[in-house]
Amino acid sequence: MREATKNYGSGGNAVQALRGISVDLARGSFTAVMGPSGSGKSTFLHCAAGLDRPTSGQVLLGGVPLSGMREAELTRLRRERIGFVFQAYNLLPALSVRDNITMPLRLSGTPLDRAWFDEVTSRVGIAEKLRKRPSELSGGQQQRVAIARALINRPDLVMADEPTGALDSHTGQEVLRLFRELVHDLGQTVLMVTHDPVAASYAHSVLFLADGRLVERMDRPEAKTVAERMAHFGGR
Ligand SMILES: Nc1ncnc2c1ncn2[C@@H]1O[C@H](COP(=O)(O)OP(=O)(O)OP(=O)(O)O)[C@@H](O)[C@H]1O
Ligand SMILES: [Mg+2]
Repeated sequence: MREATKNYGSGGNAVQALRGISVDLARGSFTAVMGPSGSGKSTFLHCAAGLDRPTSGQVLLGGVPLSGMREAELTRLRRERIGFVFQAYNLLPALSVRDNITMPLRLSGTPLDRAWFDEVTSRVGIAEKLRKRPSELSGGQQQRVAIARALINRPDLVMADEPTGALDSHTGQEVLRLFRELVHDLGQTVLMVTHDPVAASYAHSVLFLADGRLVERMDRPEAKTVAERMAHFGGR
């Protein structure tokens, strides 16, 4: 992302949600995004994922600028090259675990790669649950299903907005360990928004946003140092 800005509204009501952010996410990196409420984290994530367009500046995915793309192209790119994980899992309750995981393939018209499906489901630890409905699973298991769904298209980038926000701390840490394994073992690139310094400490580096600006980047974060920086930037 190069010099990205994002304004909402205009005139007296205008909000500058991003004020010139430049970031490179290396392939196989695990990056956490932190900052006070309203600092622009979700806006940053949405622009980086092509869910929203920056007002100025550029977003490139694998070297390809998103700015020249039409809506249909962007939609395809999001389906095929980005996996999303949300705080609220967003699974379809009427579908089995298997059908939830393979939903992105149906949307993008991609054939099922059986070996990859088996690898993903065993890695996230839900290979025994494929016939269940989401409501029959615990929160942690549902989030694992959502992670498998995010991986099924072999995306370039996995985006996670508060992925452990709805989980107790033990289950949350299992999910974070899973992210770290995906990064280390599969070379997956992960970008995660979190308010939790412990969650951020699982990442390789933390980006701190304040008032729409990237104010600090911390490599090899430790929970304690992250918490201290958050306090400094006025975060929770
Ligand atoms: N659709 C929108 N229309 C107008 N203003 C918006 C819109 N979305 C976000 N904003 C504003 O942009 C700024 C950044 O919002 P953003 O949601 O990115 O913050 P955040 O860091 O994700 O906050 P939180 O931690 O509360 O989720 C805020 O001032 C917000 O009010
Ligand atoms: Mg947000």
